[in-house]
Amino acid sequence: MLRLLRLLTWRDLILIFMCLCLIVAQVWLSLKLPDYMATITRLVQTPHSAMRDILYAGGMMMLCTLGIFVITFITGFFVAKTSSGLAMRLRRRVFDKTMSFSIGEMNKFSTASLITRTTNDITQIQMFFMMALKIGIRAPIMAVWAALKMYDKGWEWTAVTGIFVVVLLMMIGTIYALAIPKFTIVQKQTDNLNRVTRENLAGIRVVHAYNAEAYQERKFGRANDKLTKTSLFTHRLMSVAEPGTQFLLTGLILAIYLVGAYIINGAPDAARLGLFSDMIVFSSYATQVIASFMILTFILLFLSRATVSARRINQVLDAPINIIDGTVRHGNAPSGTIEFRDVCFRYPDASADTLHNISFIARPGETVAIIGATGSGKSTLVNLVPRFYDVTSGAILVDGVDVRNYTQRALRNRLGYASQRAVMFRGTVTSNVAYGDNGRRRATREMVRRAVKIAQAKNFVEKMDGKYNAKIAQGGTNLSGGQRQRLSIARAVCRAPEIYIFDDTFSALDYKTDRALRAELRRNTGGATTLLVAQRVGTIMNADQILVLENGRIVGRGTHDELMKSCPIYIEIAKSQLGNGGE
Ligand SMILES: Nc1ncnc2c1ncn2[C@@H]1O[C@H](COP(=O)(O)OP(=O)(O)OP(=O)(O)O)[C@@H](O)[C@H]1O
Ligand SMILES: [Mg+2]
Repeated sequence: MLRLLRLLTWRDLILIFMCLCLIVAQVWLSLKLPDYMATITRLVQTPHSAMRDILYAGGMMMLCTLGIFVITFITGFFVAKTSSGLAMRLRRRVFDKTMSFSIGEMNKFSTASLITRTTNDITQIQMFFMMALKIGIRAPIMAVWAALKMYDKGWEWTAVTGIFVVVLLMMIGTIYALAIPKFTIVQKQTDNLNRVTRENLAGIRVVHAYNAEAYQERKFGRANDKLTKTSLFTHRLMSVAEPGTQFLLTGLILAIYLVGAYIINGAPDAARLGLFSDMIVFSSYATQVIASFMILTFILLFLSRATVSARRINQVLDAPINIIDGTVRHGNAPSGTIEFRDVCFRYPDASADTLHNISFIARPGETVAIIGATGSGKSTLVNLVPRFYDVTSGAILVDGVDVRNYTQRALRNRLGYASQRAVMFRGTVTSNVAYGDNGRRRATREMVRRAVKIAQAKNFVEKMDGKYNAKIAQGGTNLSGGQRQRLSIARAVCRAPEIYIFDDTFSALDYKTDRALRAELRRNTGGATTLLVAQRVGTIMNADQILVLENGRIVGRGTHDELMKSCPIYIEIAKSQLGNGGE
């Protein structure tokens, strides 16, 4: 928690210091009130006292109250400013850190939990911070100051107040012991609720198509019920705390009056008036003390919630990054070479390797195709090049340099990557194609058009409303699967990289488009090396080298013709496809 507060700027600290001064002034004003009250009581009880004096004391009370009001207003303003600033910086920190996560860390935290942490958890901290500044600082100052003022007003009353404070502390302690463990659970359950909601919304078509609404509702209901139950428990506890302290407060005043009655009864007549006004003053100080404790309870509550949240945020900020940046910016010539040297790979937490001893070289300008059954490890293989994961053993070299030695930026600037599932961002065709930064000049309109044309997307883009500025919905839901694939290919082309990685990006294209696209790519990307994952033999027939993958092992390599002679698995795949409508 304290670590997070380091995000406060100097300006914030100055504002907080000003708040502190203002709050001290406010406490001073609040504690002035009982003094004037005592004066008025004494004046009213004394025969022949001047009306002017009473009005003066009353007027001063009004002024004090006004002062308190103004101070509260100003501190409120300062507090809002610092706490929202803190929350903003915290959110940026968490977001930046999440951006640096590799897929492994993302999976560890889960997207839903990362969302809760960037939103709900930070709000908890912001709320605590606001409360602490607004009323939390005030409470202990008030309690101590009021207690000091009470000190010489009679030990009997002080003793009574002391007993009540002990009872109050015991009550609060019990409530805390019960409530705090629940807060961690509440945040976890919020994660869970988020996850179920996300899953449901993302898969809404399937939910409808399979009449699974009831099933999803039950799932959501369970998550919702759990969260509600735990929140209810904590809220119930809290709702005991409030009337409990109120009850104690009233009890205390009664006790003070009771003790006071005895004292006054036993005192000589002359001392009675003084004692009476002391009692009034004392009871208002005691009220302030108890009220301060009440506020502290409240703040502690927020503190315990915020501590849980701070821990969750620190977990994100402290998470070790597995993909560590190298320092190399430029590879050795010739540019565009990819070499896999005896690469083995195992997913984190998996029990067996997914890739075994993969070795091959793709030379500049070559196309290396990878084919194999689903689950054979094709995507896993190509995802190692941009370092979404690091190899478990062996090495991958790009332009003669181990990918782990490059800065991630320099490495990825060399690559044009189109993922298996085409990803679109909310924006326009242009913003999606000219996406990101390749370390060179920004993509011009001509570059975007050229890329769209090469990717065989020109036809449909120019038919869209607004053409190159046509709107694309989040996730590209207003495009067909094949259209999304073509735009994601255009995105890679627009980058004009040394190396292309196409992970099964041709699968949703019809044979004709597939062929035209490949011809265009060959013509226009001369010099670039291509790693091409495909399911269809037709797509890869012309590749310079084809790797046949089975269960993470290369079981055949060569050109189409060579493999047709030597690799039974390839022959089997080819026969099953070429026989019915391939090229
Ligand atoms: N994040 C992951 N964590 C653990 N195992 C994974 C992960 N991703 C994939 N795998 C496993 O690795 C194996 C290879 O998956 P991969 O995605 O590379 O297959 P693929 O050849 O690309 O298949 P497809 O043709 O269906 O795209 C699969 O058995 C899969 O279960
Ligand atoms: Mg795949």
